[in-house]
Amino acid sequence: MLSIESIDHADSVFNSTITVQCLGGCKTTFHLIYLMDNCVAPESLHPQTKQRITDVFNGPLMESRSGFANANKCVQQLFSESQFEIHENELVCRWRAGQASQFSEEWLVSHSYLPKLYSDHHFLPKWSTWDSEKFKHVVNEGPIYNYPQLPAILPDLMKDIYTYGFGFIEKVPATLEATKEVSELISIVRPTHYDLGVWDFTSDLAKNDTAYTTLGIDMHTDGNYWNEPPGLQLFHLLEHSSGSGGETRIVDVAKVVEIISDLSNEDESWKTTLQVLTKQPIAFHQAGEKESCFTQSQFPILTMSRSGQLQQCRWNNSDRSPQFPQPLLFSVGAIYEALFRFNTLINDPTNYVQFQLSPGKILVFDNWRVLHARNSFTGYRRLCGSYLTRDDFLARLRGFTTDREVLLNAL
Ligand SMILES: [Fe+2]
Repeated sequence: MLSIESIDHADSVFNSTITVQCLGGCKTTFHLIYLMDNCVAPESLHPQTKQRITDVFNGPLMESRSGFANANKCVQQLFSESQFEIHENELVCRWRAGQASQFSEEWLVSHSYLPKLYSDHHFLPKWSTWDSEKFKHVVNEGPIYNYPQLPAILPDLMKDIYTYGFGFIEKVPATLEATKEVSELISIVRPTHYDLGVWDFTSDLAKNDTAYTTLGIDMHTDGNYWNEPPGLQLFHLLEHSSGSGGETRIVDVAKVVEIISDLSNEDESWKTTLQVLTKQPIAFHQAGEKESCFTQSQFPILTMSRSGQLQQCRWNNSDRSPQFPQPLLFSVGAIYEALFRFNTLINDPTNYVQFQLSPGKILVFDNWRVLHARNSFTGYRRLCGSYLTRDDFLARLRGFTTDREVLLNAL
């Protein structure tokens, strides 16, 4: 049963708290300003849009417009006159006449922070990293996703794309229209200066980028010169005739990070390598078109989450700028050693896989996690595909994997 343990009116309005005891005897403390800010009553939280209507900053905190001290005093008085009680196992905060907030025990537990009483929410599948051996197992033993069964198989397909960082869709008509249809089922097609929708190109240098040539392209992620690189990419080879080559290679950077982390646990120089890769910003540019020059220098090669998981990789040796973002966090020697080691690992055949794309078989992959490369080729090769937004992919995937009420309760 929920009960009130204590109420502490501190000197500052921002530090006044209430401590409650939840089922099982666990105690947790909330700041009164936090509870007022996060009231879940329909007058405070729009029942349909799930957006906050209440505004503590322009409401109670600004009731006295004659300075911070008076505003603080005014709200502190409001809090000291407020009443708190447990009613039908809910915490009721009566801030003033006609204004009350009610919080269920479930809400209090799932939003507790001092201390946190809930386990971390996992609405997305756990990543499964792979090397060349594991890739073969995943592809040969896993489910086959066929175009005629879309969209019924879409939830499982998207879960696999997220889990492994790639997926194949087979028996797709070798057309732009079908490629667009598959793209839009997975996410939203992101327009770029290359193309406003699904792109379609051959080696005609229609754009000043090596992708539009017959040259081989080393392992890379796309769009490193943007602040927001494409979340996913989709490839569909429509035709390759009168020639050979053009094989695709992909490598799982999440696996490479595991390898580097293991090495860094045993060797100081690899520890420095990991630090360089995760902390030193590296600049990238795209300046082939006369009308535009894209450049950014804010991000390291590997952006890691607070829990130490890879969030995003940015790597393209062709697009790497000579300018070092200042101030340098490491010596130039340590930076080059780290880049050399990273490049060696992503081009190690035990880590990457190589295969031929073919008409009717779409490859979709996580452009923040999986690097791709292309061998040089001869003949006529026509490839179409798309850049897909990551946020929309993740939002749809959460919708597939988790009950909506559970999702809303975790916001
Ligand atoms: Fe690319």
